[in-house]
Amino acid sequence: MRVLAFAASRRASSLNRRLIHLAAEIAGAKGADVDLAEFGEFEMPIYDGDVDHDSGLPRGALELKRRVIAADALIIATPEYNYSISGALKNAVDWVSRARPMPWRGKSLYLLSASPSAMGGIRGLWQTRIPFEGCGALVFPDMFALPHAHEAFDENGRLKDHALAERLEKELSGFVRLAEAYADVIAPPERRSAINKALEEQTDIQPAAE
Ligand SMILES: Cc1cc2nc3c(=O)[nH]c(=O)nc-3n(C[C@H](O)[C@H](O)[C@H](O)COP(=O)(O)O)c2cc1C
Repeated sequence: MRVLAFAASRRASSLNRRLIHLAAEIAGAKGADVDLAEFGEFEMPIYDGDVDHDSGLPRGALELKRRVIAADALIIATPEYNYSISGALKNAVDWVSRARPMPWRGKSLYLLSASPSAMGGIRGLWQTRIPFEGCGALVFPDMFALPHAHEAFDENGRLKDHALAERLEKELSGFVRLAEAYADVIAPPERRSAINKALEEQTDIQPAAE
């Protein structure tokens, strides 16, 4: 089962990037084939209906669309901004939602957040569920918000707090199992062939593997 994973932050020392690296490693150990992306690969302007009408999705949105189609499931770590969803992530959801068939539909999604605050970004995750669920994604009931994230990782990128580490492992294990089962239920042969086609369509952003 293929999983697209990325952190919705471009900051060089992003805490969400650290968290997504850890989550991707755990998901891989649970049997997922993880495509770990950088949010910078999906650079796109603010949604503009005229641009959409005249020239369709911009390059970064096309690349995100292709990578979403090529995956059975998604894992996204995102900052909470002002008690809500990150504008950059919402913008990406909006652009990709303009493609048909709807790329987000039928994808399982596990959401995480990392923040230096005591809340860990959980309020933003509740807001982040909404557009994805509106677009037909199956958002995993458990979400992982990491508080005091600036001091939560050890030098190997693991969580220092054993209880939190155990919860992350358990939730990811459950998510991978659910996503595998859901992919089997929801992926008829046509979707499987769309996944394979998206995998073959290489762009200059992500050159073909040697
Ligand atoms: C515009 C803005 C708004 C923010 N709002 C919140 C917030 O509502 N809750 C919170 O926990 N942290 C908030 N933060 C702090 C972010 O959680 C923190 O900058 C975090 O490290 C960003 O994620 P990153 O490290 O992956 O880039 C905000 C930061 C910015 C720049």
